[in-house]
Amino acid sequence: MEMTWSSLADTGIQMLDEQHQELFGVMERLRRMIEVGAARPLVEALLGDLVACTERHFATEETYMSRFGYPDFPQHVSDHASMLASLRELQARYQESQQAMALMVPTFLEGWLKHHVSDGDLGFVTFLKARNLA
Ligand SMILES: [Fe+2]
Ligand SMILES: [Fe+2]
Repeated sequence: MEMTWSSLADTGIQMLDEQHQELFGVMERLRRMIEVGAARPLVEALLGDLVACTERHFATEETYMSRFGYPDFPQHVSDHASMLASLRELQARYQESQQAMALMVPTFLEGWLKHHVSDGDLGFVTFLKARNLA
């Protein structure tokens, strides 16, 4: 089943929503590629895009959290770091020809980002809105 953005909580902050939608778009393309058995270089390239896109997004969030003195900043940064580490591990395993790992990628990332959006980023959004910063 294709996951759509509408099934997830919107933060209401355009910049975050656009980046989350971009991430979900890349994940959905990755899932389809794996489903149709796309050539390995294509999957690897898209995994690379996903890592880059995730790094950009986390950097954006962390810049804003730092700027506005978000109290849960250290925990959120730590969550981002562990998520990126898991993503890079999946990427490395795929590159090592453990192709079965690729089947786990979309499922893993969907749960990973859904959790991130609903429990992690929304805390920051609530913080911003309470201070009329968003
Ligand atoms: Fe996020
Ligand atoms: Fe986040």
